Parts: sequence; structure tokens; C-alpha cells
Amino acid sequence: MSIRPQKPAPATPAPGKLPLTELPEMKARRQPIVMVTAYDAPGGRLADQAGADLVLVGDSAAMTVLGHESTVPATIEEMLMLTRAVTRGAKRPLVVADMPFGTFQISDEDAVRNAIRFVKEGGADAVKLEGAGPMLSRVRAIVGAGIPVMGHLGLTPQSATMLGGFKAQGRTAEKALALLADSRALEAAGCFSLVLEAVPQAVARRITDELSIPTIGIGAGVDCDGQVLVWHDLLGLYEGRAARFVKRYADIGDTIRSALEAYASDVRERRFPEDAHTYAMPEDELELFLQSASTQRRTESPTA
Ligand code: KIV
Repeated sequence: MSIRPQKPAPATPAPGKLPLTELPEMKARRQPIVMVTAYDAPGGRLADQAGADLVLVGDSAAMTVLGHESTVPATIEEMLMLTRAVTRGAKRPLVVADMPFGTFQISDEDAVRNAIRFVKEGGADAVKLEGAGPMLSRVRAIVGAGIPVMGHLGLTPQSATMLGGFKAQGRTAEKALALLADSRALEAAGCFSLVLEAVPQAVARRITDELSIPTIGIGAGVDCDGQVLVWHDLLGLYEGRAARFVKRYADIGDTIRSALEAYASDVRERRFPEDAHTYAMPEDELELFLQSASTQRRTESPTA
């Protein structure tokens, strides 16, 4: 069945903001939900202009913009700064702030305190956290404080070491059943949505069919209720090895590199700046300036 693009939903609670309650309705009418990551104000604005429904300030920022080898080193202060920037640019999409490693694992109280910071200081509409098990009580506590929580299962990069690396999850019946059970538990704990990363399509389809909250897939097949891609992967800005599930829609990295090479060559050849990029001054003022500067120089250095 082909789905016609729908008009943006009506504004509430902030002017123009997509209501959170619209997401289960989109799932119900099988209208795919579009999520993309962003890490700065222009990124948030462009995602908004392109009609994204959700913008994730992912802790993938640790790798894509901060140059780390994994997402683990991202700090709350770094993520807050990025979240503030994104929320200045993205107005209609719901902005989800990814809680970095160490900001929600310790205790429910700590998780609630940090989630509140993302909403109050970062301007986020919701937070995302990885995992189930002990994290279920974190979800309950944060939702209990009035903050919407997005879950994240499958390949959870913050625990990639425990998972044996960045590889697909849920590929045996036993592991797929565990994923299904964790998904149900996250829904019951109050998550408004669930990211499924790098899980077999058939497993994601089963989870999606069973849950009433929308699933957002990344490497989980087309049957999820929505999809998410990382900004730098989608636009061709990331130089590391791309995961199987990445589709590159542009090669912005090449475009930027060529532009910088052209600029460097113009500077070296004195082709830039041109007249159009410089400021003039009235002739008489210029003459006065040059004369005065010479006089000043003569009086200041008697040996000259
Ligand atoms: O940090 C991130 O960008 C994410 C997405 C891959 C879902 O968690």
C-alpha cells in the first residue's frame, strides 16, 4: 500500500511542534516516521525544513563530531551544548537527546536529574537511553518525572564491548526472543518509542507488530514504523567504514573538500579576496589618512 505524504500535524505544545501523541497515530495509519540525527543549529534547521518528524541529538556525536573511536566518551556537558544548538534550529520536529554513557546507569535518581537537565537546559522534548533490564526502572522514573523516553535495543553502542563489537543482534531464536521480551518490557515501562538497531528484519517486524508504540529502525528493515540515520553517514561526511545499513544520499564531504581546496588555491594565488569582497573609503578621507600617517611617522621617529 502506498502512503501519501501527510501535512505536518497541528501545533502543540510549543508553536509548530509535532505533538508526541501524533507518533502512535502515525503508526496506526502506517505513515512512516522520519528521524535523523543532528548536532548543531543548522543541522536542526535543515532537518526541520526537510520535514523530519524526530531529530535525535545522538551520542554518535562522540564519533561524528568529536573525533572519538566510540560513543562512550561523550559527556553530559558536551551533549547538552549540542542539544541546545539543535533545539535552536529544529522547531517542528520533536528533539530527542541521547543520554550519554554514565548519565543514567548509576541510579534512578541520577537518571532523572540528568534527564531533567536535557529538558531544562538543553530544550529537548524527550530523552533516549540504551538497554532494558536494570534500565527499566530508569525509564519508569524518568517518565514518572514527566519526561518522554525513547528506548534503544539491539546493537547498543554504549555496551558494544559487552556485545562483542559493533555487530548485528538477535540472530538466534533465543536472542530474538530476549529482544522481544525487552521490547515489551520497555513499552510497559512507559517508553513512547523504541529504536531497534542492527537486528534481523523479521525480528524487527515481529516486535513492531506486537508493540503499540512506534519502532524506529536503523539496520532493522523496512517494516519498522520509522527509520533513523546518522547525519554524517547519510550525507557522506564520515570517513570511517560505514555499517551495512547505511545509505549515503550525498557526498557532502567531497563537496566541502573541493571548496576548501579552491579557497586555499585562491588565497595562495591572490585571487581572493576580489574587489567585491573588500571595503572602500572616500578618496579625500584616504588622502588625508595617508598624509597624516606619513606625518605621524616622521614626528614619531626623529631618525627617519
Ligand atoms: O547516537 C545515535 O546516533 C543513535 C542512533 C544510531 C539511533 O543512537
